Amino acid sequence: MRLIKSIKTLIILGSVVAVVVWLTGTKSSQAVSRSAGDDKPAATNTGYVGSDACKDCHEDQFKAYSHTAHAQLTTMGSWKNKVTGCESCHGPGKNHIAEGDPTKIISFKNKTSKETSETCLSCHAGKEERNNFRRGEHWRNDIGCTDCHSPHSNKEGRNVASSNMLVTTANAEKPGFSTIRMLKANDPQLCTSCHNEVKPQFSMPFHHKVLEGAMRCSDCHNPHGGFETKQTRLATGADAACIKCHVDKQGPFTYEHAPVKTEGCTACHTPHGSANPRLLKYSSVNQLCLTCHSVAHDVGAVEPSGPQHNQNAQYSNCIACHVKIHGSRTSPVFFR
Ligand code: HEC
Ligand code: HEC
Ligand code: HEC
Ligand code: HEC
Ligand code: HEC
Ligand code: HEC
Ligand code: HEC
Ligand code: HEC
Ligand code: HEC
Ligand code: HEC
Repeated sequence: MRLIKSIKTLIILGSVVAVVVWLTGTKSSQAVSRSAGDDKPAATNTGYVGSDACKDCHEDQFKAYSHTAHAQLTTMGSWKNKVTGCESCHGPGKNHIAEGDPTKIISFKNKTSKETSETCLSCHAGKEERNNFRRGEHWRNDIGCTDCHSPHSNKEGRNVASSNMLVTTANAEKPGFSTIRMLKANDPQLCTSCHNEVKPQFSMPFHHKVLEGAMRCSDCHNPHGGFETKQTRLATGADAACIKCHVDKQGPFTYEHAPVKTEGCTACHTPHGSANPRLLKYSSVNQLCLTCHSVAHDVGAVEPSGPQHNQNAQYSNCIACHVKIHGSRTSPVFFR
């Protein structure tokens, strides 16, 4: 674990260096260099005119934008003398306005998804939640920030910006309901619009209630990338996604069932949905157990020991006796 952690730290440090190099190297093509925040040009001296100057000609964008978290930066002390507003993404607007020339402003029309995302990441890569965006499947497949977020927020109304309100299906379908976080649609609708193939799994007899609106795809996945496979939030460890809701499975236990900690929950459970109760991978529990606890195996083999007891019918329902299957404080064989 420690080794993995230091590798991760190295990768993170490496990418920070890379970003700084990238930022300094491409200053000319960037609206603003934001590598350290302090070298931001003041809004007054490099052709920046402020958002109000855009208002009259781009009313729709201005109106929508003014409800976003981005619009609030302009009035925040910590952003004083830094470029905020429309021009933080579109670059200085002075020449565009003076000459009425649409080529004199940064437009994203001809930019690739990755280039547009870089504009956002120049401010947003700092948070852990997003600093691995360039390592995720979405980035690799040219899914960028604006595939999920609308840069000016949606037109028809207030963006319930900092609300953590659960977006239920019922709510989302109300006319005029605004999405949170400037999302183009609510999670999970946003996700299933592209990931159609996983939708049926959430209608299986046993499933996490995502389509019902009780939880979201992003409770378990980080849409902004990360180190884990399948862009899941951590699979094991204290901050694992599953543990956040199923705290009792975390322990600490005196006697831990090894796979819970090593392979994580998906060693035994299918996370989206399953035909089997308790979202188990197999329809009968003993089948599940015996995939690892094979009775016949070589002495000294690395797989876990099989039960000494035989496999008579009396033993077939493993969890009738081994009830604390996720770990126990008192029983080395998980009886209580
Ligand atoms: C005097 C009117 C006027 C003002 C003020 C103005 N624009 Fe424009 N802008 C235009 C026109 C005209 C176009 C081209 C037609 C169109 O795409 O709507 C345009 C196009 C754009 C485009 C799209 C470019 C493209 O090729 O698609 C962006 C982005 C833009 N403006 C941003 C801004 C920003 C940011 C400001 C404020 C700093 C601003 N504009 C101020 C008139 C204006
Ligand atoms: C957070 C970055 C960001 C900010 C802030 C921002 N824009 Fe944009 N803007 C974009 C992106 C990205 C696009 C490309 C559209 C897309 O991909 O959906 C765009 C597109 C546009 C366009 C082209 C027409 C359209 O709507 O697609 C205009 C005009 C425009 N912006 C004006 C403005 C004005 C005016 C402001 C300030 C009131 C503003 N923008 C603030 C990122 C931003
Ligand atoms: C695949 C869809 C998707 C993509 C691509 C995506 N986001 Fe998000 N983003 C989301 C969802 C869903 C949420 C809401 C998650 C939540 O509330 O926990 C969110 C939340 C956010 C938030 C607010 C939450 C916070 O941590 O404060 C920011 C900021 C953000 N995204 C920025 C970005 C940026 C920048 C990019 C591009 C580098 C990006 N997003 C790309 C789906 C996406
Ligand atoms: C000038 C720096 C800057 C740029 C460029 C920028 N953002 Fe932001 N953005 C911020 C800050 C600061 C916040 C507020 C704090 C936070 O949530 O991280 C914010 C907030 C957000 C939020 C959360 C909104 C909410 O309601 O909580 C989203 C989503 C977001 N940005 C997406 C984007 C996307 C997409 C782009 C590129 C098109 C972008 N940002 C470009 C600085 C920036
Ligand atoms: C605009 C389309 C689009 C949207 C919206 C979208 N995705 Fe994706 N996603 C993709 C593509 C394309 C890939 C890469 C190909 C693949 O594996 O399907 C991907 C990959 C993934 C993967 C990794 C799959 C793997 O096999 O490694 C996960 C997990 C994922 N997305 C979750 C989400 C979640 C959660 C959301 C909503 C917050 C979301 N996606 C929204 C297009 C999208
Ligand atoms: C309870 C947690 C959880 C929720 C909620 C969840 N996922 Fe997953 N998802 C996972 C895990 C864990 C994996 C990895 C499975 C594995 O490795 O066997 C996964 C795998 C995936 C994959 C990779 C392809 C596959 O089937 O293995 C995609 C795509 C995906 N999820 C999309 C979504 C979307 C879209 C949503 C919302 C509709 C969603 N997930 C909701 C935990 C979850
Ligand atoms: C956002 C909270 C949340 C997260 C994250 C979450 N779960 Fe759940 N889980 C629930 C809730 C609530 C239920 C029970 C209600 C229901 O049927 O949806 C449940 C049910 C289950 C069940 C079935 C329990 C039963 O009695 O049938 C299993 C197994 C399970 N979760 C495993 C997981 C695993 C594995 C993960 C991580 C991949 C995970 N959960 C992530 C909230 C969560
Ligand atoms: C070695 C296999 C195995 C692993 C690994 C495992 N589980 Fe389970 N889990 C089971 C079995 C078997 C049951 C059924 C127990 C029963 O019905 O009494 C179960 C039941 C559950 C239940 C529903 C009943 C209850 O006790 O609440 C939840 C929730 C659950 N597991 C969550 C998790 C989470 C979260 C993880 C990861 C931290 C995890 N499981 C890892 C085998 C496993
Ligand atoms: C993913 C593989 C895996 C699955 C599935 C699994 N186990 Fe284990 N189990 C292990 C490992 C590894 C150990 C650690 C002991 C070892 O190294 O021999 C262990 C330990 C145990 C122990 C403690 C006694 C000992 O030998 O240390 C019991 C009892 C046990 N498992 C019962 C079960 C039961 C009952 C099930 C089915 C509900 C089950 N296991 C499913 C891998 C697994
Ligand atoms: C009727 C109760 C009962 C059932 C059902 C049961 N076991 Fe056991 N199990 C025991 C007892 C008793 C022990 C020995 C405990 C001790 O050594 O203190 C044991 C020990 C074990 C051990 C520890 C290693 C060993 O051989 O001592 C494993 C692994 C194990 N069982 C797996 C299973 C599996 C897999 C199943 C289902 C196929 C199962 N058990 C069903 C009662 C049961």
